Formats: sequence, C-alpha cells, structure tokens
Amino acid sequence: MEKLIETLNGILSDAFEKCGYERYFGGVTISDRPDLCQYQCNGALAAAKKYGKAPLKIAGEVIEILKDNFWFENISAARPGFINLNIKDSVLAGYLNEMNMDEKCGCTKADKPLTIIVDYGGANVAKPLHVGHIRAAVIGEAIKRISRFMGHNVIGDVHLGDWGLQIGMIISELKRREPELPYFIEDYSGEYPAEAPFTINELGEIYTAASVLAKNNEEAMKDARKATSELQAGKKGYAALWKHILNISVTDLKKVYSSLNVEFDLWLGESDCEKYVDEMVSYLKENNYTYESRGALVVDVAEEDDTHDIPPVMILKSDGSSLYSTTDLATIWQRVEDYDPDMIIYVVDKRQDLHFEQVFRCAKKTGIAADKLSFDFIGFGTMNGKDGKPFKTREGGVMRLQDLIETIDDSVLKKMDANKGFSEEEMNDIAGKVGLSALKYGDLSNQVTKDYIFDIEKFSSFEGNTGPYILYTIVRIKSILNKACAEGKCSGTVSIHEPCSQCERDLMLKLSRFNEAVEHSFSEKAPNKLCEYIYDLSNAFNKFYHSNRIISEENAEKKNSWLCLCDLTKNILEISVDLLGIQVPDRM
Ligand code: ARG
Repeated sequence: MEKLIETLNGILSDAFEKCGYERYFGGVTISDRPDLCQYQCNGALAAAKKYGKAPLKIAGEVIEILKDNFWFENISAARPGFINLNIKDSVLAGYLNEMNMDEKCGCTKADKPLTIIVDYGGANVAKPLHVGHIRAAVIGEAIKRISRFMGHNVIGDVHLGDWGLQIGMIISELKRREPELPYFIEDYSGEYPAEAPFTINELGEIYTAASVLAKNNEEAMKDARKATSELQAGKKGYAALWKHILNISVTDLKKVYSSLNVEFDLWLGESDCEKYVDEMVSYLKENNYTYESRGALVVDVAEEDDTHDIPPVMILKSDGSSLYSTTDLATIWQRVEDYDPDMIIYVVDKRQDLHFEQVFRCAKKTGIAADKLSFDFIGFGTMNGKDGKPFKTREGGVMRLQDLIETIDDSVLKKMDANKGFSEEEMNDIAGKVGLSALKYGDLSNQVTKDYIFDIEKFSSFEGNTGPYILYTIVRIKSILNKACAEGKCSGTVSIHEPCSQCERDLMLKLSRFNEAVEHSFSEKAPNKLCEYIYDLSNAFNKFYHSNRIISEENAEKKNSWLCLCDLTKNILEISVDLLGIQVPDRM
C-alpha cells in the first residue's frame, strides 16, 4: 500500500504545481504539533524565498485549491506560512480497513528485491560468547528480519573468527601442556583421534591462559604466531586440532545464539575464504595494486580528499600469513562468487570502522567488489554498566552471555505474579520470553551508534519504554480478543468504523503509519525507529483501552469495530516484535 504520507505529498505537490510553483514544495511531514493538526506542509515558507512572495499568500493559494478535496477534513494556514492538515475520519478508517485485509498490514515489498548479506554475530571460536557479542547478534538479527520483511533476498552469515591468532595461541598452549598428543608429532602418519582432547569448558580455560601468557611473554606470542602461520599453511596435525576447536565451539555457539532467538543462514567463518586467498593475491599482484612494505604485501587506499590518515591495507604478513583484512577481502571475493550480492551489511563494533573503511576502499578500488555492490558498516556502541564503563560481572570479570540471560530471566521471574496460576513450566517459558524482550528491546531501542547503560531493573520493568511493556500490551489485547471470542461475538468480517473519540482517532493514526515506520527502520538500518513506533502505538492503544469498555459495549457495531482495531493493533505489534527478534508469550 502507498504510505499515507506519500499520498498526501502527491496531493500537495499537485496543488503547488497548479498554483505555478515547483512540485517539491509540496512535501508533507507528520505534525510536530499534534495538538493542532495531524500533518503539516512547510513548503509555502520555502517557496516564499524562491518566488519573492509572502508565505501566507502562497499557503492561501494552495489551500484554495484543496479546500474541497475529498481527503481533508480540515486544511488551514498558520503563521508564518504553515499549512496544517487533518485527514477525514472516513479516509483514515478506509485506509485501516485496507491494511486489515493485507497480510503485511500495509507494507509493500520492494519492487526490485536486492540480494543482501548481513554479516553479524562475529563470534570468535574457542571463547564463550560474552556480553560484548550481544549487540552484534541482536542488532544484526533485527536488521536481517526487517530487510527480509521488505521483500529482499537476505542471507545472514555469522562470520566466525576462526582463523586468527587465537587459534595459534590455543594450539601452542596445548602443545606446551601435552606435547605427546599425536597432533604435535612430526611425520605422524596415523589417523587423528575423532574425539577432541578438551571439552568446551577446558577449551575456554586453555584460551584464557594462552592469551594471558601471550600478552606477557614474547616467546609464547612467537609460538602462537608460528602455529597460526603453520595452520594456515596446512599443517596436518594443526588442521585436525583446529577442526576439534571449531566443532566444539560451534555446537556451543549454536546453543547460545538460539537462546537469543538469533538464527544464521550461513555458519561460515574467516577460514572458509582461505581457498580464495591465493587467487585473490595473484589477481591483486597481476593488476599492480600491491607493493611490498617492510616485507608485507600492501595496497594503498588513501584518497586525495581524506581528512585523516588512512593507512594502506595489509594483504599478507611478511611470513605469508593472512590477517583480518585478508580474510575480510577474500570473504568479499567469495560472496561475490557465490551470491553476487547487491549489498553487504556489517554489524560490528564501531571501533572497527577504520578496518572496514580500508577493506571497502580496497575492494572497490581493485574491483574485488563488483560495481553494483554497496557496503554498509553499522558500527555499534558499547553496552556499559551503571558506572559508565563496559559491563562487567560483580567481580569485575567479563560476563558470559549465558549468565546475563539467566540473570535477566531471574529478575523477570521475581516480578511475575505468582498468583496467576501458571505452572512452573509456564513460568519459565514466560520468564524466558519476557527476559529476552527486556534484553533485546533495551538494546534495540537505543540508537545503534550510541553507547548505552545496561540497567536490568529498568529494562525488565513492565512499565515504561521496555520490551516487557510492549509484550504486556500484546498479551492484554490477546486476552480481550479471547474474551470476545468466548462470548461468541467475534466475527472476522466486520470493519473498522470512523473513530468516536480523539484517543481512538490517535490510535488509528498511529496504526496507519506502520508501513512508514518499517520503511524508515529499513532504509536507515535503525531498529530503534521501529521500537519508537511500537512504544507510541502501545501507548496509544492503552489510552484507548482505558477510555473505553470494549467487552461490555452494547452497541454491536461499535464493539465489533473496536475489536477489529484491537486485532489490527495486535497484528502490527506482533509483526514488529518478531522483526526485532522478540517472542510473545500467550499470557504473562
Ligand atoms: N570476529 C570479529 C571480532 O570479534 C568480528 C567479525 C566481524 N565481521 C567481519 N566480517 N569482520 O572482532
């Protein structure tokens, strides 16, 4: 469906044109004074400058043309030259009825679906997921779902960190601890054990010990680097160990991501592009993009009008091994070959912006990225604790994501009403869903680039701008509809009538703006826009709910129309929270 605001734009633009002014002056926006009008057009003010006329005069001419227009209840000029617009209730009701029949509640699919890869998650194997990973997963999942809802062909890739120095650290640490393992025996010709020599917990411990050691001990760092480069060069024993690390980690990662309701289409990682590295390096060399700098192979990516220093991208280290930029470039190479994408969206910590700037420039300059391919770096800020520093456990350590999820679920359980007669199983299911909504909404309702403070009490509150509040609203509507159905007065064919009160009209106006909200959050890759919308919508609904007795309304037509409104609100809220990756309990 065409967005209401777009229709209004068209009408106003036509009117400006008819009066002899440029069409673009007819731009309409949502009113910033909702107490005065629903929509406004500021074009007369801008046109006044261009045409040297009084703005109120221009506004008057435009209004004269539109005063009998079928769409408007009221169109008037306000000083110094605004045009205030109210649409007719009948138009609004008609629009909502159309939305009600539409599977996507008025959202139109893109006419040219793009192939979009969303690179998010970005977990590094061998380490358990910690709070630092939450934003990539939560924001990326929402962007993926929103893009898909807009009709694009979207592929989500976890892009595991499975090829870097951390693997070399683990291998060399294990070698120090258990040198007799077959993986470390030169010329070993037997089969390597099918079973890994460590569990996931042991792996975490080995990794932590190894990284502490490497940081403080040059010899250990050297060993780790050497092991990394030998692994990348294909050393058999190391490759076998690496497979164990990967298998064990991925099983664990899948569990945690799934408890976050985050699903990847592809479980590829840095290592998967390894097979393209040689081909890519030859291509770069043959086309004279590379040169040697202190033994390393690099590509210049600085541009003339740069205002800050953009250093060359390193393609290979002096020992021939790949680095982060190598795997990112080779992954682009691979993605172009496998999926021919129009867009790749990276959802990564904003502190990596320079790395991505270098990679994108290099990919474009060298033609690794096809012309049509655009890159979008969605750099997110940090989740901080109440002290304003990166969120830590009480003891000051890094908190595991799994533990964080449990803490939130507990906090929700405490707030839940034990008198509602839920079974224990139900309680846990509800706490899981409500807890997840607290966590995800608490994150997503912030502007992506900003840091935010993680506040369990605030996020898990059932009131205010929180996930649980939105869920509570949905559950409330479900219960109204269930009651109505139980009374047998629920019919699917009734329609939405013109509003009887201002709060009903406000709710209807909010509902009519759903497609606009989704499109904005897609085009700006800003899930917070969708959060803002559903918060406003929930408020509008609850106001309407508190001012009317829906179930006991005696006028059947009115009641049915209200139930229809409830149904549309529920559908829109349910679609929206699903786009944010949040699940809804039946009761709470
Ligand atoms: N593994 C990386 C990290 O922990 C994030 C990966 C982001 N994606 C990418 N294509 N580089 O920092």
